[in-house]
Amino acid sequence: MPWKKHLNDVTPYKPGKPIEEVKRELGLEDVIKLASNENPLGCSPGAIEAIKKAVPDINRYPDGGCHYLRQDLAAKLGLSPENFVFGNGSDEVIVLALHAAVDPGDEVIVADPTFAVYSIASKVKNAKVIKVPLKDFKYDLEAMAEAVTGRTKAVFIANPDNPTGSYANSGELDAFIEKMPKRVLVFLDEAYYEFARGGDYPESLKYIDREDRTVVVARTFSKAYGLAGLRIGYGVARPEIADFLNRVREPFNVNSLAQVAAKAALDDEDFVSRSRQLVDSEKEKIYKALKDLGVEYIPSRTNFILINTGRDSSRIFEHVLSKGVIIREMSPWGLKGFIRMNIGLPEENDRFLQVFKEALASIPSEK
Ligand SMILES: Cc1ncc(COP(=O)(O)O)c(C=O)c1O
Repeated sequence: MPWKKHLNDVTPYKPGKPIEEVKRELGLEDVIKLASNENPLGCSPGAIEAIKKAVPDINRYPDGGCHYLRQDLAAKLGLSPENFVFGNGSDEVIVLALHAAVDPGDEVIVADPTFAVYSIASKVKNAKVIKVPLKDFKYDLEAMAEAVTGRTKAVFIANPDNPTGSYANSGELDAFIEKMPKRVLVFLDEAYYEFARGGDYPESLKYIDREDRTVVVARTFSKAYGLAGLRIGYGVARPEIADFLNRVREPFNVNSLAQVAAKAALDDEDFVSRSRQLVDSEKEKIYKALKDLGVEYIPSRTNFILINTGRDSSRIFEHVLSKGVIIREMSPWGLKGFIRMNIGLPEENDRFLQVFKEALASIPSEK
């Protein structure tokens, strides 16, 4: 067979179940999904208008450089257009970084558990993935810094983290960055930035100017901007770093509808702030309900909550699914007994809480 041997160790990413699949398989009509940290408010109406306007031109290749979006983002973030690399989702920016930096046998440091794409994409590159356990459901940045060796090429930091929702504050991240040598790529994944920003959350763009560090900050239009289906995200870095990621990028990796939608979405601050308000207020409601149920959860800086059911979480998942609510069961992440649900519309969250309550009552506690 022609396949590379090391691909035997690669397990493809398993996404949350799609709504249509659950409808089909369980014969249900009314199914909601709180499993992939999507935006329940949809997206900015301006983005939809921009897509409609651009549809007649889909016979043309997209602008490979995302020129207009690049200009707008640069202006918004006070950076130069050369600071950006765009991806087919921020997932692709992760892959581009590994592609540009990592040779077979190099070490890549990730937390355990965390967003699975870091280790999957590293294994595809035949890198050696060094997993550093979380400490109290938070990244152990001290241990991650200590794990750096002469073979380390990259360290991935999800901030906030998925699936815990916890985050490293600015003092913690400053201390970590201080310890990183320039030869190590520090990939700061801020997919949930718009939900997390403010207070003691790090202003990480300050790191990218540092000549003595190699930092890429990745963000996405999939979450707060509500454009997950279009696949568009970006990396921010010093121009010479962005240039290396651009060298390994396919020429037309970001489609034309995604580009115009992202540009319009960027202008709609009101949509993003409504999304954030919904998440903040519903999170408080859900925390209170979970406390009333006597269930532990990890306080979240983003739009999902990791919950310790204290029970067989696959049974909880099945029960909740049978009532038409899709969530994530977390034992494949090594989080036995845990589920993750993302904040939906108020009525969706109420429905989750109701069926979760029933599940808790019908499945024995294992505590
Ligand atoms: C931490 C983290 N990073 C990156 C992504 C990928 O986002 P996208 O490829 O849609 O930009 C996700 C999606 O769930 C995520 O949770």
